[in-house]
Amino acid sequence: MSPRRAGFPPAEKLFRGYPLTGSRSTTSVLAFGSATQFFPPRRTLPALARAVQDCRACPLYEHATQAVFGEGKRDARLVMVGEVPGDQEDLQGHVFVGAAGKMLDRCLAEVGLPREELWLTNAVKHFKFEPRGKRRIHKKPTTTEVQACFPWLEMELEKLQPEMIVCLGATAIRAVLGPKVAVVRDHGKVFSSEWAPWVMPTYHPSALLRAPDDQRDATRQIFLADLRLAARRYGEISSSTGTKRDAHDTRGMRAQPGGDHGTRHGTRGAR
Ligand code: URA
Ligand code: SF4
Repeated sequence: MSPRRAGFPPAEKLFRGYPLTGSRSTTSVLAFGSATQFFPPRRTLPALARAVQDCRACPLYEHATQAVFGEGKRDARLVMVGEVPGDQEDLQGHVFVGAAGKMLDRCLAEVGLPREELWLTNAVKHFKFEPRGKRRIHKKPTTTEVQACFPWLEMELEKLQPEMIVCLGATAIRAVLGPKVAVVRDHGKVFSSEWAPWVMPTYHPSALLRAPDDQRDATRQIFLADLRLAARRYGEISSSTGTKRDAHDTRGMRAQPGGDHGTRHGTRGAR
C-alpha cells in the first residue's frame, strides 16, 4: 500500500502548523518560551519524562498536578498522539487512563491493536481545565500552547522513530501534520511525515463520548474503521521479519548511522 493517498500532497508539501524547535531548527516559538530550554542534557525518554515535570514554557504547568509524558513500549512501531491529559491523567500521572482512555482501550481491543505494544502520548503535556464547582472541565489547548509544547512531542518521536503514527483528534493532527489536514475530511487517509512514513488522522475517542445519542454509534463505527486500517497496517509491518531498526534501514529512510536524522523520510525541505 502506498504510504500516500492519491490526490493528497505528501506531508512535506504541507505547511506545518508548528515551527520546529531544537538543534536543527531555524525558527523559534514566539509567544512563550521554548520547551527546549527545559530539556535534560541526555535526551533519553526516561530523562525527558523527568525533565518535563519542570517545564515552564507555557502557563499550563501552573494549575496542573503534574506533567504527563508519553508511555508505552520503548520500541513501539505505532505511536498514538492525543490532545492533552484529562482530569484523571493529571491526577494519576498516566496517559489515557480516564473516560476517553477507557473508550480508546475498548476500541483498540475491538480491532486487535494491543495497547501494551504501543506508545501513547499527547500533543500537550499539562492538563488544561476550567474549574466548575468541584469539577475541573477540560479545555482545549490554544495553538500557542501546542506550539510551546511541541518540542517534547518532537523529541519523543525522534527517540521512538515509529513506523506508524495515529493522530487522535484535531490538536494532534495539527501538531503532526499541520493545519491543512482536517479530521472530518481526512480521517482514515494515510499521509507520510517527517516523523513516520505512515501517519493517519482520526477522531479523538472523546468525540465518541460527546457525540449526540443519535450519532454515537455512527461516530464509533467511523473510528473503528480507521483503527482497523491501522491494525491491518500494524499486522503487516509486525509480520515482516527483522527489528524495527532493520525496517527503517532497509527502506533507506535513515541517514548515516549516528548522522543527521533530519533527513528522515525526506521531508527536511519542509523546514
Ligand atoms: N485525552 C487525551 O487526549 N489524552 C489523554 O491522555 C487523555 C484524554
Ligand atoms: Fe511545558 Fe507543555 Fe507543560 Fe506548557 S504544557 S508547561 S510547554 S510541558
